[in-house]
Order: sequence, then C-alpha cells, then structure tokens
Amino acid sequence: MENTVKTVQKSIAQDANRPMPERGKFLVLEGGEGVGKSTQLQFLAAYLHGQNIPYLLTREPGGTPLAEQLRSAIVGEDVDEMEELLMILAARRHHIRMVIQPALDSGMWVLCDRFIDSSLVYQGIVGGLGLDVVQMWHRMAGCLLIPDHTFVLQLDCALARARRLDNRLTCNKFDQRGVDFHQKIHKGYEEIARKNPEHCTLVPADGTLEEVTAALLDRARALFGLA
Ligand code: TYD
Repeated sequence: MENTVKTVQKSIAQDANRPMPERGKFLVLEGGEGVGKSTQLQFLAAYLHGQNIPYLLTREPGGTPLAEQLRSAIVGEDVDEMEELLMILAARRHHIRMVIQPALDSGMWVLCDRFIDSSLVYQGIVGGLGLDVVQMWHRMAGCLLIPDHTFVLQLDCALARARRLDNRLTCNKFDQRGVDFHQKIHKGYEEIARKNPEHCTLVPADGTLEEVTAALLDRARALFGLA
C-alpha cells in the first residue's frame, strides 16, 4: 500500500515537473462575403508552418461533424435571426469544447474562419438582435472564448460581389442577399473593429493577393513577435 502511494506521489511529482506546453494563440479571420478569407487563411497557415508553429485550421459555423450539420441549416434554411443565433451557439459551444480549447491547451495555434464577430455583425447589427443580446446569449451558452486577435478583411461591396460571381459555383442564402445587406455587413465590421482596436484589425483587401497577405502577416508579426 505504502509503495503504491509512493509510486503515485512520484508520478504526480514527475508530472508537475514536466513543463506545461505554452497555450497556443487563437486567431480569427473575418469579413463579408467574397472578401478572400479562405485564401488568406491558407497563406497564414503556410506562414505558421514555415515558422514551425503547430496549428489547426478550422471554420465557423462548423469545425466538428455535428457543427457542420448545424451549418447546413444555418446557411441553407429559412430561419430567423434568433434561430440562427441559437444554432450558431450550439455549434460554437461544441466546436470550442471538442476542438478549439483542446488544441490551444496542447500548444497549437488555431486559425478560425469566422467566430463571434460574425454573430455580432450578421445577427446582432444587421439582423437587428442588437450587440447586447448576442453577447448575453454567448455568456448564457458558455461561449466566452475570446480570440487573441481578429483580422477583418474589408473589401468594397461591388468588388466583393464581382469576386463572388467569378469564383463561386454555389451561393448560400447570405451571399444571395442584395447590395444593401452587404453594405451593412461591411459597416458592421467597421463598427466592431472601431470599438475593439486592441483585439481587432481592419485589413484592406482590395490589393493584390500578395499585398493583402503582406499586410496581414506584418500585423501578425508585430502582434506576436514573430520573424
Ligand atoms: P462563409 O464563411 O462565407 O463560407 P463560404 O465561404 O462557404 O460561403 O459562410 C458562412 C455564412 O454564415 C456567412 O454567410 C455568414 C454566416 N454566419 C453568421 O451569420 N453568423 C455567424 O456567427 C457565423 C460564424 C457565420
């Protein structure tokens, strides 16, 4: 018995001596439809790879099989803003618990295509639920993970529309809405970024791919002291 206790104590002491991995950083890319998020996320991922930083690339709504099922309903069904928000929160909670938090705890960086700022803009500002309501529901659902930084790609709505038409075979229900909707999304992101300059950077996305990537990486390097 005494030996067993000693063995357990020794093993706990060894665990305590093992350095905990440093928590990874949680970076989010946001923006309206057709601004080039997916492409820039790939460049950001390649950069982290080049820096030997382990990372995970994921997206919202989605990131787990269950959350991907909810995504289909959110972007495809005729549901109202509150129904969207409730499904987004279910998907987000599951995604955080099953994927994002464990990855960060293990020292990986997480690159996420959209997160809470999408809900603040799409459901809160443009959908009309209000920022306070969206934030309150996030607290109630326990979706309180705050990204280390959010980059918002901002592109003129007409240009974004042209890119969507050029690059997309299929469109979700948000893509199909009118110019007015996309302009409100654009302004909504500006509002969010203005309110949180420490946590959120607006990145102009009307340059060439290389220019946008360079702007994004410059900011990331400055924020996180990377080479
Ligand atoms: P998007 O990320 O643009 O993916 P794709 O490139 O495949 O079109 O599509 C996801 C849609 O979900 C987008 O139109 C915005 C919407 N959305 C919300 O309305 N609220 C949210 O909280 C999130 C994460 C997404």
